[in-house]
Amino acid sequence: IPVEPFDYIVFGGTGDLARRKLLPALYHRMRDGQIPAEGRIIAASRRKMSDDDYRAMTEEALTEFVPEGERSRETLDAFLGMLSYRSLDALSDEGWDALRDELDGDTERVRAFYLAVAPNLFDDLCQRFAQHGLVTPNSRVVIEKPVGRDLASAVKVNDAVAQAFHESQVFRIDHYLGKETVQNLMALRFANTLFEPLWNSAHIDHVQITVAESIGVGSRGDYYDTSGALRDMVQNHMIQLLCLVAMEPPDSFDANSLRDEKLKVLRALKPINASNYDRLTVRGQYRAGAAEGGAVPSYAEEIGNKRSRTETFAALKVEIANWRWAGVPFYLRTGKRLADRVSEIVITFRAIPHSIFPKDSGVISQNRLVLRLQPDEGVKQWIMIKDPGPGGMRLNYVPLDMSFAESFQERYPDAYERLLLDVIRGNQTLFMRRDEVEAAWAWTDPIHDAWDEDGSPPVPYTAGTWGPSAAIALIERDGRTWHEDT
Ligand code: BG6
Repeated sequence: IPVEPFDYIVFGGTGDLARRKLLPALYHRMRDGQIPAEGRIIAASRRKMSDDDYRAMTEEALTEFVPEGERSRETLDAFLGMLSYRSLDALSDEGWDALRDELDGDTERVRAFYLAVAPNLFDDLCQRFAQHGLVTPNSRVVIEKPVGRDLASAVKVNDAVAQAFHESQVFRIDHYLGKETVQNLMALRFANTLFEPLWNSAHIDHVQITVAESIGVGSRGDYYDTSGALRDMVQNHMIQLLCLVAMEPPDSFDANSLRDEKLKVLRALKPINASNYDRLTVRGQYRAGAAEGGAVPSYAEEIGNKRSRTETFAALKVEIANWRWAGVPFYLRTGKRLADRVSEIVITFRAIPHSIFPKDSGVISQNRLVLRLQPDEGVKQWIMIKDPGPGGMRLNYVPLDMSFAESFQERYPDAYERLLLDVIRGNQTLFMRRDEVEAAWAWTDPIHDAWDEDGSPPVPYTAGTWGPSAAIALIERDGRTWHEDT
């Protein structure tokens, strides 16, 4: 079903995010018949450029980022026909009234402002929108992360946005929430009776969340060096995953019910600060090594700053102080230039209380439920079975395996495809509410403060490995190991 006609106004329309993600996502939705022909996409940035130049740039981007089999001349032409370009500067008055006049043809239409720009421009842009009368009751604003770099700056950004938009119009993107498996986690938990009775400290031993990347920081060094893994990945994507695993069942799949439950988890996270960070956290930085099939430089060389103390890896042991989860550690790890690109959530159930089998039957491993976000999305439930055959009672650990690619033939929409249309539909379920973002910063700030006070550099790890040995020790100290999918 197509969404209603809309105007998407994309600030940062010539930038990397627009080219790699936003334009291809809208193209795919159009190809699947979800975008009405009357829809308009107005790209804006400071650069001077004609509509035709912008269309040519978009065609190049789509050729690069949409697989050949998914492109057709007809859809491409229809898509390019929806595009226009405006040169606008957040710091200058010029062109804003003309934009309003262009949009005002239909004030009922959904108007979505996408801020794919550096966060220090959010304030100025929102002021322009307000000042030039661009915000209608049917307007929405989409904000990319990072929303601030700590609690104080996040409050400032949120305040600035709130000057022009009501919270019900604000869509803070965390693209992890748009990923297929992440939504499947909610289906698994709340559309089955099987798991929920076991989903607590009586039956779950611990949870692991890994978001490993094999890429380095590449051309994003300027941003990344002011951020680091804790701010770039943990404060948002990983904490959101943790919340979805840990939250109580919301009373409906509606935006505020879900976000209320996530917020309760955020507020129940046990503090990590100067008194315990050395036991509960590890931060690392990659040095030169081998990754993605070749030799790769160190982080310091890549960004051209040998003194950088920015962490490209973080591992944490997190606990949730509530009835359901008391005593169940959540181990989180994320990093760049790791051995592989793997993102997964692993729920390990408790060991059986007593074995009835003779010792030579084999080791009885704990049940594990693995939700794989990428690269190959799917769910695996590891269980013990009897090895088939006449050889007596020999036990084996095997996965009940549901690979989405094998089970379902359709193509998987990228997270942005779903999220961009949810904005038009006015559905905030998969977007972060202001209080969630601020609560997440309130929890991560003391970790940063403790690291800063400590003053020592992050521990080095070789590019192409699973990170510093201290991260392995973090979990092994508790008699557990990081999950390996073998
Ligand atoms: C972004 C981070 O939010 O997520 C990047 O800023 C990271 O540093 C990216 O590479 C990972 O997203 P995905 O979808 O490729 O796992």
